[in-house]
Amino acid sequence: MNPFIPVNEPLFAGNEKKYLNECIDSGWVSSDGPFVGKFEESFASRVGRAFGVAVTNGTAALDVAIEALGIGPGDEVIVPAFTIISCVMQIVRAGAVPVLVDSDPATWNMDVGAIEAKITPRTKAIMAVHIYGLPVDMDPVLELVRRHGLKLIEDAAEAIGQTYKGRPCGSFGDISAFSFYANKHVATGEGGMVVTDDPALAETCRGLRNLCFQPKKRFVHERLGWNLRMTNMQAALGLAQLEYLDETVARKRRLGARYDALLGAIQGIQRPLPRTDFAENVFWVYGLVLDDSVAFDAEEAMARLAARGIGTRPFFFPMHQQPVLRDKGLFQNERYPVAERLYRRGFYLPSGTGLTDAQAERVAEAVAEVLR
Ligand SMILES: Cc1ncc(COP(=O)(O)O)c(C=O)c1O
Repeated sequence: MNPFIPVNEPLFAGNEKKYLNECIDSGWVSSDGPFVGKFEESFASRVGRAFGVAVTNGTAALDVAIEALGIGPGDEVIVPAFTIISCVMQIVRAGAVPVLVDSDPATWNMDVGAIEAKITPRTKAIMAVHIYGLPVDMDPVLELVRRHGLKLIEDAAEAIGQTYKGRPCGSFGDISAFSFYANKHVATGEGGMVVTDDPALAETCRGLRNLCFQPKKRFVHERLGWNLRMTNMQAALGLAQLEYLDETVARKRRLGARYDALLGAIQGIQRPLPRTDFAENVFWVYGLVLDDSVAFDAEEAMARLAARGIGTRPFFFPMHQQPVLRDKGLFQNERYPVAERLYRRGFYLPSGTGLTDAQAERVAEAVAEVLR
């Protein structure tokens, strides 16, 4: 049997080893090393922002964003139902309420037309999460944010190198968050960053990441923070990969086009939209949604693909169905049918930057067999 094709295999094609060796040779392995500041500056500048604050992962970046914006008891934050729980956890922990909107069945992003009906006098922020490779339609979101005086948090974890109408994803939020987990377009193993143009917010984020030590009285604390410091080694990896981000994005687009060509004739599946009016898909992952004509669900499709040596991942499980959130009394009697269906019928194929053409062909053959 052919070797198993994992759902993600990163590719390290630049100065990663050189920069990591510098960390070891110089002894700078902690967060005090010089790569951290360089990576923050280069990354922030790449997305057109004044400040970057590197943290330990994308979840931490969102936690810091929520806390820095002062979101707390009595506040509501509008988030998509179809997303990762990282978007919701700190909202709940802070004593605020996540308010959900359903997804657009074509792009799988939040249905921006459904946001306004969810705005109340308690709404403090909207969190726009770019999902799977296409950006959220930002213009209507920006208009709502302006008209209602809200804060905008942008989760661009999956959209590194993506743009909306030519403007970088991550350039829209009062604070925008990124992840550098191994399957992201810049992969530092674990890692994340918040970016902003507001010097006061940036300073707050720096404090929150570093236990809220104070510059003058270091061990006197006026606010509760966390230790979310990124190491010099992670930043070294990040900087090396940022140097060839355009190639990485081009590679992902080629892979998406390859899958499109290989899977185009197969009946019974919805493939990712290659483009919208405002963006070309970067295919962060290549997702499939089974048509209603297919007699089985995503779970069965994934099992059948696994039996053929193909790794897959399920789509997100919607927030309103999460046991941990329902146990807290959230989302009782709420339904988000598009998000529910995306979970039941959706999964994604091996999509890492390390995937070869031959592997993509094997994946496509297996999908054809499973759906035949
Ligand atoms: C949209 C989105 N936000 C946040 C995260 C969390 O990032 P991390 O895994 O680095 O904590 C992810 C992770 O994949 C994600 O896809």
